[in-house]
Amino acid sequence: MKGKILVTGGTGYIGSHTIVDLLQHGFEVVSADNQSRSNAGMLDGIEKITGTRIKNYKVDLCNFDETRAIFEDNNNITGVIHFAAYKAVGESVENPLLYFHNNLGSLINVLKCMEEFDIPHFVFSSSCTVYGNPDHIPVVEETPRKQAESPYGLTKQMGEQMIEAFAATNSRCKSVLLRYFNPAGAHPSALLGELPVDKPQNLTPVITQTAAGKIAQLTVFGTDYPTRDGSCIRDFIHVCDLAHAHTLAIKFLIENADASKCEVFNIGSGDGISVLESIRAFEESTGIKLNYKLGERRPGDVIAIFANNDKARKLLGWIPQYSLNDIMSSAWKWEQYMQTQPLHLDLRTYRLN
Ligand code: UD1
Repeated sequence: MKGKILVTGGTGYIGSHTIVDLLQHGFEVVSADNQSRSNAGMLDGIEKITGTRIKNYKVDLCNFDETRAIFEDNNNITGVIHFAAYKAVGESVENPLLYFHNNLGSLINVLKCMEEFDIPHFVFSSSCTVYGNPDHIPVVEETPRKQAESPYGLTKQMGEQMIEAFAATNSRCKSVLLRYFNPAGAHPSALLGELPVDKPQNLTPVITQTAAGKIAQLTVFGTDYPTRDGSCIRDFIHVCDLAHAHTLAIKFLIENADASKCEVFNIGSGDGISVLESIRAFEESTGIKLNYKLGERRPGDVIAIFANNDKARKLLGWIPQYSLNDIMSSAWKWEQYMQTQPLHLDLRTYRLN
């Protein structure tokens, strides 16, 4: 065993894929997830893929005592990968305090425990949203953090700054901030994937649910942007490539005693793909014609962003393996699997807590 990693948000979309990758690379894992927006069925998926049943602490990380009890129960944690957070941009605009409380309150509690229990390694789920609407693309890690477009984006910017300040004063702990671009796709086994809460907002689940007939028609939000085909440009990264970046980040922290206190990495494919191109990629990779229409811009959307991922390639040795077609075909396979498991994986009964 290479060490025990606490994964918060372990039954979520990226957390569950990361647990699989950590287990497959010799790490021991415990999870903490209150499953308010994820499903215990992910633990079954992880077990089917890896043969390992993960222990999940069903706790609210905003509750300090419950969070602390996890660290007390596991006296040999090498590192923490902190995914647990809300991520719906629109919801954060409607209910900013919910986002500040949940995303920042849980982060503070986890960092307090890191300090008290002297845990040396921390990896944080950040986002390309911290760049706001960048002046130049592709963005590099030094690209300035501009005005956040939403309270969700603000929680990622503030989270990064809190960790930077924490790392500067904590003598032992070293951190990595991973700025994800647009995570998409599903595990090739189709046993894990994204479970959108209620009606999906993100493009890939909207595509697959439209193909499945759950959504009548997809609307392309904006076709008059100053881009090559008028639709927004994004950087889609396969969730398994993203998951592996976390394993590499933990290894980087363990193996580099002289690493700086807080390193930032862009985790994107490096390819800018338009919304219309991604629809075509879905149609090509699945052979399914998508019912879509061209519509108005969505407020708050960034026009175009994609990553320069040279730093992650060089320092982490991270090499993305999956193509855009792989993303679309795996997402579609997962959508079809979910249709065979409607009760087990249904999250539509979720309520805000
Ligand atoms: C944003 C954030 C990302 C965050 C994510 C969480 C930025 C640049 N990105 O992703 O960091 O993790 O929210 O949810 O701030 N689209 C349509 N029709 C649809 C759905 C989407 O045309 O039905 C378009 C959007 O207008 C956008 C693109 O598809 O241009 C991607 O949208 P989405 O999947 O929601 O992700 P972002 O908004 O890029």
